[in-house]
Amino acid sequence: MRTLGIETSCDETAIGVVDDGTRLVASIVSSQVQLHAEYGGVVPELASRKHVEAMIPVLDEALSDAGCGLAGIDAVAVTYGPGLSGALLVGLNFAKALAFSLGLPLVPVNHLEGHVYAAWLHTGPTGPQNNESPRFPSLVLIVSGGHSDIVLMEGHGRYRRLGQTVDDAAGEAFDKVGRLLGLGFPGGPAIDRLAAQHGRAKTLRLPRARLDGEYDFSFSGLKTKVQRIVRGEEGDSPEAAELAAAFQESVVDSLVTKALEAAANNGAREIILSGGVAANTELRRVLAERSPVPVVVPPPDLCTDNGAMIAACAHYRFTAGDVAPLSLDIDPALKIG
Ligand code: KG4
Ligand code: ZN
Repeated sequence: MRTLGIETSCDETAIGVVDDGTRLVASIVSSQVQLHAEYGGVVPELASRKHVEAMIPVLDEALSDAGCGLAGIDAVAVTYGPGLSGALLVGLNFAKALAFSLGLPLVPVNHLEGHVYAAWLHTGPTGPQNNESPRFPSLVLIVSGGHSDIVLMEGHGRYRRLGQTVDDAAGEAFDKVGRLLGLGFPGGPAIDRLAAQHGRAKTLRLPRARLDGEYDFSFSGLKTKVQRIVRGEEGDSPEAAELAAAFQESVVDSLVTKALEAAANNGAREIILSGGVAANTELRRVLAERSPVPVVVPPPDLCTDNGAMIAACAHYRFTAGDVAPLSLDIDPALKIG
């Protein structure tokens, strides 16, 4: 079964084609990052308009890579939440039009669930190999620009949320600190690179938040601390690279420590790391090093938003009987678990 996945929840217009939920056939991502960089963050209205422009060219390219026409598609999947309302509406309405005109099922996909399914995409002969299959229960750490969740996945479509951020999402913290350090938008990849220049020589140590919720996170205190240091309110300021490394170390330590505790206390047989922040070099390294169970992480380009993960997830949703009517609406605040 060949699914087409459409993703427009934030600032990437993305379409992927996947066979049987695991074999990646095509993945085209048109990023708007340069458009929004000028404003230091995603401007929702601009994002929606750009999605409208990019949609048809992205579809053409995806089908061309897949080597099939629309007639070769068996189901149309789309992200219906969470995300920016206007952006989601563009993808959803395009998906409805395709499904209706082709007489195909419309499969609704939760963006966060989509991120999880990137872990089991086999990327074919030219891409990096990944032959992972689910080992339930899986402990999933979803860390993106809008979310930081610890979720126990007991089977396909069965999630129990164990923890989440009480303030900023991990990616949001990276982006805000990136701005404080003058690194532009998005801050995550820039901090990743700058911290690597500092290396692992330990000097500055920033605090980790202590919280009541066993598996909850908080990053806003850390961001404020960095802000105070940058403004010179805490004595002599360290170099930007050292500060970036210390910030990243604190975030990574919080995420990894909570994820490992949750995994151990819930009998998880593997840990899945997903979402844009899963592209972070240090997070990938530290989690793999400290975890006693296998860690599955998609290649970096499947960690950030893409349509293939939506298509992959849709295969399982469709198999479970999840088909939406054409009256389906967006759900900007949709959660997982
Ligand atoms: O999943 P995603 O593409 O979009 C959302 O659903 O939010 O995640 C985007 C987030 C941004 O905050 C970006 O700064 C962060 O992922 N990110 C990274 C890295 N690459 C992307 N954060 C840390 N290190 C990276 N290498
Ligand atoms: Zn995302």
